[in-house]
Amino acid sequence: MSAYACKEILHVDIYGLGIESSCDETGIALLKNGNEVLSEPLYSQIDLHRLYGGVVPELASRAHMEKIPILLQEALSCLPAQQKISYIAVTVQPGLLGSLLVGFNTAMAISLAQQIPVIPIHHLEAHLYAVQLHKQQIKYPALGLLLSGGNSVLYLIEDLKQLTVVGDTLDDAAGEALDKAASLLQLPYPGGPHIEQQALLYVKEMEQQGMDETILRKQNPLPQVLKSQSREEFNFSFSGMKTALFYLLQKYPHEYQSHQLAYFFQERVIEITVRNVRMAIKKYETTQLVGGGGVMANTMLRQRIQENIDIDFLFPSPKYCTDNAAMVASLGYNYFQRGNFHAATKVHSGNEFIF
Ligand code: KG4
Repeated sequence: MSAYACKEILHVDIYGLGIESSCDETGIALLKNGNEVLSEPLYSQIDLHRLYGGVVPELASRAHMEKIPILLQEALSCLPAQQKISYIAVTVQPGLLGSLLVGFNTAMAISLAQQIPVIPIHHLEAHLYAVQLHKQQIKYPALGLLLSGGNSVLYLIEDLKQLTVVGDTLDDAAGEALDKAASLLQLPYPGGPHIEQQALLYVKEMEQQGMDETILRKQNPLPQVLKSQSREEFNFSFSGMKTALFYLLQKYPHEYQSHQLAYFFQERVIEITVRNVRMAIKKYETTQLVGGGGVMANTMLRQRIQENIDIDFLFPSPKYCTDNAAMVASLGYNYFQRGNFHAATKVHSGNEFIF
């Protein structure tokens, strides 16, 4: 028998489950070999929380409890006959405590019943490994850019579980700031995608009038963020800009149009991100930048980063930028392969909580 044939015989497919319930998305995913998604039912609670303009923790955990069994049944119905699940990866931090517990208890119950390991996953690390779902591999050391509703962080990724924060959230995270700016501009929740839509509309309108973006950028009435940050620091701060937008609207209620301000606000978020990424690449000399988190769904942001760096830039499709269980199962596969079931517990972020 040839060596090739032996390899074929020894190859065993690994099926894994991912559970995500850290905030306002209830997700279950069934993956084959860490990157092939067989099923990924997701229930978004956005409509439930929209009325309150943000996530209500108690409502979130109740909704997770109600939906998880239904989604689990749906996902498991896609497991091929005669096959078994080998591991369950579950988000254990950071997140809303009640919501995390719903996912964790579900994982523990399946684990006990099936005698398979539970792999605790750090949600932020999972965001960075979401690119695996497109069969892209992180090459260590890489720079990780995580921009979500709760965090704006730059990491030096040196291996699985070995992430060092090199730039952090000083106050409001990027997504949070975009959501709050959207609310000031009376755009729907969550505001990030609406800010982007409005910004694109403004750029298009101005282009039709013969004005390109280099001119528009010079007209920004909002302050530049962290202008005096040293070349060795790569932090993010957006709350001052949100306050500046608030006062601008108070002082000049009729001077600017809503889509114009959406553009200017988003532009400042893009500027600081591009600045931090460029400086950090220079300092750490990585050959790859890996993006993740809801705000990375922003096409204008991704394009500007791409234009300003000359290393590989990996980022997930919009569906895998926002919270999902496939990324949790995918990262879980890496840990399972290494026989290491104690996933990262100290991937620090501005809003860290250790499980
Ligand atoms: O990672 P994520 O799904 O979850 C949490 O952090 O909870 O990120 C959600 C954030 C929200 O603030 C949302 O407004 C933002 O991602 N977001 C966007 C876009 N799509 C979602 N921000 C800017 N542009 C987008 N296209």
